[in-house]
Amino acid sequence: MLNVAVLISGTGSNLRALLEAASDPTYPARVVSVGADRDAPGLAHAADFGVASFAVPFRAYDSREQWGEELAGQLRAWQPDLIVLSGLMRLLPAAVVAEFAPRIVNTHPAYLPEFPGAHGVRDALAAGAAQTGASVIQVDEGVDTGPILAQERVPIEPGDTEETLHARIKPVERRLLIDVVRRIAVGDIDLDAP
Ligand code: GRF
Repeated sequence: MLNVAVLISGTGSNLRALLEAASDPTYPARVVSVGADRDAPGLAHAADFGVASFAVPFRAYDSREQWGEELAGQLRAWQPDLIVLSGLMRLLPAAVVAEFAPRIVNTHPAYLPEFPGAHGVRDALAAGAAQTGASVIQVDEGVDTGPILAQERVPIEPGDTEETLHARIKPVERRLLIDVVRRIAVGDIDLDAP
């Protein structure tokens, strides 16, 4: 059974999808803890599923590094086999990546390496692209630069707004994330040698 810790910043709809998948007894992974860098609404999903959660408010710390030290301490306590960033809108400090890599994956609402960074959906629209996508990658020391574990194209429709496009991307992200976590759990994906 793969023990997964999930980090979020927002609504946590992707987290909820993973919690729902993991509530199936045949799914080979379980969420052991949910963390956030603020009092994120998505933490309520953890409570709904009886999963422990914690918040390490970024604003409460004098530096990214000090925030990272507390976050790493909270994560370490759960001894996760995998850390999933799903809507964490904060870059992890290098020390946190160094401690937990290569066992950190991230979902991104674009077809990487297209449109990396915090505004992938908005950037795809602004570029006038005909299609974008969803990606699940391994986290390395860069920004959305790690090895791609899964990705799929998502069409951009005329009249799309950032909200309508993101709403079309998220179900794809969730499906890819649930499958990637399953494949890691059963050994189909070896994060030590992607
Ligand atoms: C997801 O699209 C994720 O890839 C991006 O932010 C969004 C978070 O959505 N980083 P939610 O909080 O899971 O609803």
